[in-house]
Amino acid sequence: MKEIRDMNILAIESSCDETAAAVVHNGREVCSNIISSQIELHKLYGGVVPEIASRKHIEKINQVIEEALREAQVTLDDIDAVAVTYGPGLVGALLVGVAEAKAIAYARHLPLIGVHHIEGHISANYIEHPDLEPPFLCLVVSGGHTHLVCVRDYGKYEILGRTRDDAAGEAYDKVARAIGLGYPGGPKIDRLAKEGDPDAISFPRAHIADAPFDFSFSGLKSAVLNYINGCQMKGETFRPADVAASFQKAVVDVLVEHSMRAAEEYGMGRFAIAGGVASNSALRESMKKACGERDLKFYHPSPIFCTDNAAMIGAAGYYEYLAGTRHGWDLNAVPNLKLGER
Ligand code: KG4
Ligand code: ZN
Repeated sequence: MKEIRDMNILAIESSCDETAAAVVHNGREVCSNIISSQIELHKLYGGVVPEIASRKHIEKINQVIEEALREAQVTLDDIDAVAVTYGPGLVGALLVGVAEAKAIAYARHLPLIGVHHIEGHISANYIEHPDLEPPFLCLVVSGGHTHLVCVRDYGKYEILGRTRDDAAGEAYDKVARAIGLGYPGGPKIDRLAKEGDPDAISFPRAHIADAPFDFSFSGLKSAVLNYINGCQMKGETFRPADVAASFQKAVVDVLVEHSMRAAEEYGMGRFAIAGGVASNSALRESMKKACGERDLKFYHPSPIFCTDNAAMIGAAGYYEYLAGTRHGWDLNAVPNLKLGER
């Protein structure tokens, strides 16, 4: 693939509850990465309220973009293309980023590149690992997705497995709510689990007979809720730290087991993780160990590039640009966009 030198991409991400903008140089060098999180606002409701998210994106987006340009010490004159997440995600939230990106690209006569959110998460791994090139395997674990993906080449993905029900992050958030930890639950369970015994309670690990790389977390979530309800009905107290640690172990065991089976079957030498749950300390530790035992090179982004951000969209946008992807002014938000679709 021909490399185009000195290309600055202005990237925009607004698919869920983070309004984010970044300036990325040549796909891998992050000149700025601004994230305005709405977490405090959505906490009141125990989860993301789509209408509130869209409104907040509208309020914040210009400010976040200005800050991204300022921090990168550039102006729109130095920008060569605009990349934006156009799916999957909340339609109203996505529309804000898409409309903004189209307006800037149109006004400045710049190429417009629509990016798939999951492709962004996967590409977050390129930012801090100059040696990472496809092909490799990637486990994408976020609040909305659990995908085991074979990255054949830049922009070329084969989905080996996916969740049949809840995403891994969704299970973390629901269990956290049941223990009374609040939203978002992932980081809180991660922290609390450190004080608990992961072998205290035996929670189920789901395996799907005809699809060894697929996942299912709703049975595990129900088992945790039943355990808590059972204790409460019997008037027994339970140790939240033990529940958190035992639940986390069940999730991590399944994620690692399926990932390693895929790596062996597909003969891959490199394995990466991505998405919000990829910042989980237990998952990172277990994956590192499992990869080490198999001589697999293990990659993971820093936590700030795991959860939603625009730098990852800039990285993905660069490789899409090199592959010739250009979107027209009719680019629309696609809430259920499939990976690999254009
Ligand atoms: O990638 P992301 O920011 O948004 C989506 O694309 O969904 O992921 C957010 C998810 C939430 O479910 C959050 O609870 C989870 O990632 N998460 C974590 C951790 N940090 C964030 N889950 C487990 N451990 C963490 N440290
Ligand atoms: Zn995400």
